[in-house]
Amino acid sequence: MTAENHELFTHIGKVLYSEEQIRQRVQELGRELSKDYQGKPLVLVSILKGGIVFLADLLRSITIPHVFDVIGASSYRGGTISTGKISITKDLDLDIRGKHVVLVEDILDTGKTLNLVLELINLHEPASLEICCLLDKDHPRELVIPIKYTGFRIPDEFVVGYGLDYQEKYRNLPCIGVLNEEHIHA
Ligand code: IMP
Ligand code: MG
Repeated sequence: MTAENHELFTHIGKVLYSEEQIRQRVQELGRELSKDYQGKPLVLVSILKGGIVFLADLLRSITIPHVFDVIGASSYRGGTISTGKISITKDLDLDIRGKHVVLVEDILDTGKTLNLVLELINLHEPASLEICCLLDKDHPRELVIPIKYTGFRIPDEFVVGYGLDYQEKYRNLPCIGVLNEEHIHA
């Protein structure tokens, strides 16, 4: 099933990354993580809901034993712009104390979501904490979020697909693309 077969694909003005390009990059990230965390107790932590599509592919490209957990965070967006209001809707289930945590996120925009989630994870006292983010948006931000593993750097545009939504839709598109203006009802 290719992206072109999806009903909502006609709403995409420009494809930034195809299914194949994403697959290859995720494989590379998986290889890198498998090498860096060899012999260490690794916990992948993803953020609901956008991060889980990436997580599901990434964990299958990691060849060392590891576990995963999810945190719930909602950022309230007026249309496509971040309002900066974020709430945590679910904490971790696993005990990560003394474990090596990699936070798996779909996109870094203002950085407010990651900033809050990093604070929450640090309260659980992991041995180490790094970020693996699929997309790093070229958005002016005050917060400095150090990302160790980045999938792609993208321009400051609103994107959908591969877990990323607009009003909860488009998460199932296998590619990542820019939504046509006419489909944005802010
Ligand atoms: P931040 O807190 O501004 O960094 O925004 C992070 C969250 O907003 C991400 O986890 C996404 O869920 C959402 N987000 C940011 N940019 C986009 C986008 O271009 N498309 C869809 N969702 C986005
Ligand atoms: Mg998200």
